[in-house]
This record gives sequence, C-alpha cells and structure tokens, in this order.
Amino acid sequence: MPENSHEKTLAALGVTQPDQVAPLFARLLSQASAELNALASPEAFEKFRVNWFGRKAGVVTLVGDNWLKPAARELKPAVGQELNKFKAQLEAQMEARRAAIESGAKETVSVKDRVDLSLPGATRPVGSRHLVRQVFQEIEDIFVSIGFSVVEGPEIETPYYNFEALNIPEFHPVRDDMDTFYVEAAGESGPKTTPGSLLLRTHTSPVQIRTMEKQKPPVRVIVPGKVYRRDNPDATHSFMFHQIEGLAVDTDITFCDFTGTIEYFVRQYFGPSVKTRFRPSYFPFTEPSVEFDVSCIFCGGSGVAANGATCGKCKGSAWIELFGAGMVDPAVYGFVNYDAKKLSGFAFGMGMDRLAMLKYGIDDIQAFFQNDVRFLRQFP
Ligand code: FA5
Repeated sequence: MPENSHEKTLAALGVTQPDQVAPLFARLLSQASAELNALASPEAFEKFRVNWFGRKAGVVTLVGDNWLKPAARELKPAVGQELNKFKAQLEAQMEARRAAIESGAKETVSVKDRVDLSLPGATRPVGSRHLVRQVFQEIEDIFVSIGFSVVEGPEIETPYYNFEALNIPEFHPVRDDMDTFYVEAAGESGPKTTPGSLLLRTHTSPVQIRTMEKQKPPVRVIVPGKVYRRDNPDATHSFMFHQIEGLAVDTDITFCDFTGTIEYFVRQYFGPSVKTRFRPSYFPFTEPSVEFDVSCIFCGGSGVAANGATCGKCKGSAWIELFGAGMVDPAVYGFVNYDAKKLSGFAFGMGMDRLAMLKYGIDDIQAFFQNDVRFLRQFP
C-alpha cells in the first residue's frame, strides 16, 4: 500500500470486499506506529499529532473523506468500524508515547542537574612561605637548639631605644650612616620620647635594650624583624630589609663564647666547608667590635670565578661580609641597670636578606620584594 493511500478512494485502491478493509487499516496503523515510535521530543510529537489528527488535512480526516464517505454501501459498516478501532488504537499508542517522551525529557533534565560527588573537587593553588620567612625559621631553629629564645620588638621606635640607650648620643656621626625615616605621631610622648619624633627602627639592636630592661641576666635571645634605612635600592641594598639580632649576657661570657657560638651557627647554616674570619670594626654599643666574614661561597674562597675572571660576588677578595658584632659595651649596661662590673656578654646583628642570598645563590636583593611568582615558586 502506498504511504499516501488515505488520499485515494477505496475504489482507487481496489478494495471492493468488506474483508479487505481490516488489512487496509492494519497497514495504516503499522505505518503510524512506526512513525510514532521514532518520535523523541515533544515538538516532534506535536507535529505527528497534527499530521494524523489535524482537523482539516490530518490523515484521519482524509480517511473519513476518501474511504468512508464515498464507500459503497456494503463496505461502509466495515470501514466505519475499522476507522473507529484505528482511531482508538492510535490514540492509546500516542498517549503511551507522549508519557515516554515526557519522562525521557525529565530524565535528561535531572541527569544534567545531578551533582557527581565522585568528581575531583576544584583545586585552588596553595601558596608557600616566602623565602625570607623560611630563612628566619632556619636561623631561629639553629639558635633555639643552643639555648636562645626568640623575642620581637616594635618597628616604630623612639630615638632613645634606637640610638641613645645604645650609646649613640645625639650628633654622634654614626647616626649619619643610619639617617632614617622619622614619623610624626600625635600624642606620642613620654619620659624617653622626644615629643613628636619617632622613627622606623634602623636596626634590631633597640630590642637588646628592651629585653634587658624587662629581664634580669642571664639573657640569651635572638630578635628577627624588619628594619628601615634611607638607602638607595641596588643589588645588595633595600630601604626595608631584615635583621636578626643576637644578645647573650651572663656573669662569665668571654670572647671565646662569642666566636664559638658564631662559628657553630655559620657551619650549621652554610655547611662545614665554609671558612670564617673576624675583622676589627667599630660600633658604639660593642667593645671590642668586629665584622664577621665568610669565605665566598660562589668562588669557593678563591676570589676567581669558574670562567677564570675575578669573582663578581666577593669582588676578588675571597671573603663576604656577613654582619657586625662584638662584646657588649659596659656603657650600655648603665642604661638598663645591669652591673657592668659583674656582667659580660656579646651581641651581633645579621643582615638576614644577604644571608639568604648567599645560601640560595640570589644575586639581587630586590627579588625578595617584587612578588614575582616565578621567583617565589623556586622556593616552595
Ligand atoms: C648594624 O645594624 C648593627 N646594629 C649590627 C650590630 C648588632 C653590631 C649588635 C654589633 C652588635 P650594620 O649597619 O652593619 O650593623 O648592618 C648589619 C647588616 O645589615 C649588614 O652587615 C648587612 O648585611 C645588612 N644591611 C645593612 N644595610 C642594608 C640594606 N640597605 N639592605 C640590606 N641589608 C643591609
């Protein structure tokens, strides 16, 4: 039977006997069922409904017009009966299909919305401690292991703690080297404060005084922290940098205790092969005062770089200056009511950033403060 049989009359289709009617409708129903079963969306279903049941030109209407109305009298009852049966069967099938399409659509929506708990979560990059913090920790661990405690002090200081109590009176030339950032702080005044003048501390040494004011001997402390100077930035200078102060005071501390402590620290920090030396120096708050050098770790203490040229890091001297230090000047004890006749001690102040640069081969101090993640990621 041609697919558009409903557009022809029964006579044109060669149906002349009542028993030919049922197979005709059976074929029409199987054609409709095949189309129906292929439908997947509500839109396609609606198109199908209009195509088969549309009032003006739907297949069912045309079957009524072309098969039933012009049918010979002896065929009419059979055609009428089969047409009703056909409509009822097709409607039932359509109802089932409509329900299936709707639940399929719902399922699709719920699959889309479902949360898959087995999927890995969104990972956020985790930061790491800055190299400056890591080196602080490394140095603190070394000193804590030999009996030092860690203390901290304010970054905004009075000239008294930053200078005077460290035996640096006003107009002492040493202040020129530390010419610094003064701040005006309204209401900040007191017995040890020149009214209206505070400063960003230029070194961690003021915490020596603050510690001795609070604590009776013996004292063994280190003081990590930020310090500020009006220095122009270059590869080894920054206007803000980090120091670690050390102070040990007791009844019988000698210069040998001092050198032993420092050499222990340096070997722990740089490794056993590094060589050390002291040079005479001057600080108003230590007597005698020294500068402490280590053999250049870049050229192995030879002064000559791998390519045969003069080592650029130590400038051919084979040594790199690490920090200033010395035995505490007895004048300082006078500012904190310590008995200078019974007590002795040593102090040192290390440039922490330069210690980190030497150990990790960093040739520009500015890298610490530029927050470039390509630099930071090298020290996870
Ligand atoms: C002092 O600051 C003394 N308070 C150290 C001291 C403490 C001596 C206790 C005796 C007893 P000095 O100005 O040399 O000393 O600084 C110490 C270290 O800080 C230097 O050796 C250097 O490593 C570092 N440093 C100094 N200026 C800068 C700067 N602008 N940028 C980075 N590091 C610096």
